[in-house]
Amino acid sequence: MTNKAIYVKTGGGFDVVTVGVSDAAKPKSHEITVRVKASSLNYHDYIVVSGMWGPTESRIPMSDGAGEVIAVGDAVTGFKVGDHVVSLFFGGWSEGRPRFADFSTVPGDGVDGFARETVTLPATAFTRAPKGYSDAESSTLTTAGLTAWRALMVDAAIKPGDTVLVQGTGGVSIFALQFAKMAGATVIATSSSEAKLAKLKQLGADHTINYKEHPKWGEVVLQLTNGEGVDCVIEVGGPATIDQSMIATRIGGHISLIGVLTGFDGPVSLITAIAKSIKLQGVLVGSREQQVEMIKAIEVNGIKPVIDKHFPLEKIVDAFKYQEGNQHFGKICLDI
Ligand SMILES: NC(=O)c1ccc[n+]([C@@H]2O[C@H](COP(=O)([O-])OP(=O)(O)OC[C@H]3O[C@@H](n4cnc5c(N)ncnc54)[C@H](OP(=O)(O)O)[C@@H]3O)[C@@H](O)[C@H]2O)c1
Repeated sequence: MTNKAIYVKTGGGFDVVTVGVSDAAKPKSHEITVRVKASSLNYHDYIVVSGMWGPTESRIPMSDGAGEVIAVGDAVTGFKVGDHVVSLFFGGWSEGRPRFADFSTVPGDGVDGFARETVTLPATAFTRAPKGYSDAESSTLTTAGLTAWRALMVDAAIKPGDTVLVQGTGGVSIFALQFAKMAGATVIATSSSEAKLAKLKQLGADHTINYKEHPKWGEVVLQLTNGEGVDCVIEVGGPATIDQSMIATRIGGHISLIGVLTGFDGPVSLITAIAKSIKLQGVLVGSREQQVEMIKAIEVNGIKPVIDKHFPLEKIVDAFKYQEGNQHFGKICLDI
């Protein structure tokens, strides 16, 4: 068995990414060993690997992992050798309300992640993969897919006929567009690129707005919704977008606070949130139970992730540089 792995040295930075080996232990009674075949890039992985928020010790990066079970412990009942599985962002959050408020247990951040060929972990750190999915497609679900699912289906609990606003064309927002259409919602989508706006339309977006051409895009959203505003916003921009999101939200609407693309902190107009009775809901991925429910819905509705580009594991730095350029539409994957 080969055990190639990528390592990022303490503090991170593209110049301290190296290829090494990582031996996978024999599974203990409640563990499985997985031949990891794919991972997918998230902004969080970029923050860790680039050194914006680098690891405090040498770390195998990447939160997302998918592949094939190659060994099972004697007490494992849910998986057998040959099954295709998807990793969890929070292997210790099986169900119920959120249990973690940091990244200390998250693969690729607080603990070693999936930029490696083999891994042995508790079986509860995985779910089965959707039928008919490639390993690369499955790997997109761990972080981006489940975050969009929880925000829309669990926290905002959207209904057919609702209107959802998604920002930009990254992994989370494209999944949110797909899940919102699946649920029978109207979708308003923003992007900085006309070419990407055309692709959003092809994916089912009902209305699109170029947020560079319309810096006050919240007003455009109000015009599109007869002055009422949307029921739910997938807020990935952060400090530079939250004000427009609040303008775009209906009275009593829901904003899922997900992303930090424009920074970790910034002023928020509390008076707008109070006056409009807006629900501001922080989101940090989701539970194993939610991932299982998402996979069931994906299979019934035939949803496939949008993958922009694949890179081999060894080209991980090139993959992050490509992500940095913001040319991608949907997900970028690593083939392992
Ligand atoms: N809280 C959670 O559980 C969770 C989970 C996953 C991700 N996130 C966060 O969500 C954000 C998105 O993550 P991702 O992995 O989907 O990122 P990504 O795939 O790298 O998405 C980047 C895209 O975001 C869009 N964007 C950038 N600046 C924007 C702005 N000011 N307004 C609107 N769109 C903007 C751009 O789209 P265009 O090129 O179309 O303009 C860009 O291509 C990140 O901050 C990430 O950390 C949070």
